Amino acid sequence: MSSLTISTSSTFIIFFFLCLITNGLAADFHVKRYGAKANGNSDDSQAIMRAWKDACMSRKASKVVISGGRYVVNSMKFKGPCMAPIHIQMEGRLEAPLNIQHMKSDDNWIIFEYINALTISGKGIFDGRGSLAWKQNQCASSGKCDSLPISLRFYRLNNTIIRGITSTDSKFFHMNLHNCRNMTLQNIIINAPGVSPNTDGIHIGGSSGVTISNARIETGDDCVSIGDGSQQITIEKVTCGPGHGISIGSLGKYKNEKPVSGVIVRNCTIKNTMFGVRIKTWPDSTQGIATNMHFDSIVMNNVGTPILIDQQYCPYGKCRFKIPSRVAISDVRFRNIVGTSTTRVAVKLVCSRGYPCKNVKLSNINLRYIGTNGTAISECSNVKPTISGRVMPPPCTRAFAI
Ligand SMILES: *[C@@H]1O[C@H](CO)[C@@H](O)[C@H](O)[C@H]1NC(C)=O
Ligand SMILES: *[C@@H]1O[C@H](CO)[C@@H](O)[C@H](O)[C@H]1NC(C)=O
Ligand SMILES: *[C@@H]1O[C@H](CO)[C@@H](O)[C@H](O)[C@H]1NC(C)=O
Ligand SMILES: *[C@@H]1O[C@H](CO)[C@@H](O)[C@H](O)[C@H]1NC(C)=O
Repeated sequence: MSSLTISTSSTFIIFFFLCLITNGLAADFHVKRYGAKANGNSDDSQAIMRAWKDACMSRKASKVVISGGRYVVNSMKFKGPCMAPIHIQMEGRLEAPLNIQHMKSDDNWIIFEYINALTISGKGIFDGRGSLAWKQNQCASSGKCDSLPISLRFYRLNNTIIRGITSTDSKFFHMNLHNCRNMTLQNIIINAPGVSPNTDGIHIGGSSGVTISNARIETGDDCVSIGDGSQQITIEKVTCGPGHGISIGSLGKYKNEKPVSGVIVRNCTIKNTMFGVRIKTWPDSTQGIATNMHFDSIVMNNVGTPILIDQQYCPYGKCRFKIPSRVAISDVRFRNIVGTSTTRVAVKLVCSRGYPCKNVKLSNINLRYIGTNGTAISECSNVKPTISGRVMPPPCTRAFAI
């Protein structure tokens, strides 16, 4: 049986190389020809990994084809470097094991690492099957989050394009980008129920030149979050909600965090979320820098706190609030932000006493409180924002008591 599989796959490889020599086209590596059953039952991880390895060794641009069907797969590592640009055409539905105990890796379900010029495209779905894991999640109660696998990890990738695909019901975060350069995510869909814990959409850390455009993200946690060491990040035409909105941070938890700089969030719609756009840093934090962050043309619809700088971020309590955050925030612009807030404090700028925010601009803001208890207000501390255009609620209606 196994020798038959080997000889069949080597025949195909020879066939592919003949194709390459005869017509010079990119080589296709169909996972079904490598033995993937796509029957929603047998484990197709090995077959997909064999197709990847051959494609990655191809001297010409190659394509791994995952055609329609349900592929049950365990943890998989798509590892480079590859010999040439590589494309995964993803039309099938990949399904993770339901039970965390059956996962071969605690860290992730699928990881792509050390690859240059990777493209993943298609209408395919990565189904993390998180429902059971959400019930077992003890992240908030015990602080133990380390045995929960992230659905899709992208690590040390250069020149990546991800287009069209869907990630659904991750057990923990949906996507985590770390140490990536020049990466574009277009037209992707991410969804998990609003009540699913820690199902963050996309977390970006230590990466530069990342653009997310035309995404639709519905989750139980942050829609997009941008961690330390991120530079030149653009988020545009993204629709978020439910979830916790678009965040920079949290920052200042770990030693030697690198600056966040050059973030643009524009032309987005945020609806039915706890927060809109926010910058969050821990009190009593390590040193850090977050600078040059622009939030422009954003519609808020039924959002808890649409605009928030929170330098006293402390989700699980137990913080030494008396010691201010050491993350220095500067050059922040909120412009053309309109819509509705479900709490009265629609704009809240709580900066660090030790490192007051510098050069914060509010321009053309129109946020309306939709509760019955008064009109929208804005709170400030340790910041003197520059105002232009019409700003509603009026800036710094009251001081935030620390
Ligand atoms: C990505 O680019 C960096 C900087 O040029 C380089 O050091 C690294 O080896 C590249 N990684 C890959 C997988 O090509
Ligand atoms: C970024 O990556 C894309 C896709 O591989 C590539 O076409 C483009 O030239 C890269 N841009 C830069 C500045 O390297
Ligand atoms: C938002 O999109 C519209 C239409 O595509 C465009 O005209 C406008 O300049 C964009 N706004 C920003 C801030 O990018
Ligand atoms: C109404 O606002 C006041 C002052 O901000 C607050 O003390 C009170 O709890 C609010 N009531 C409700 C029902 O939200």
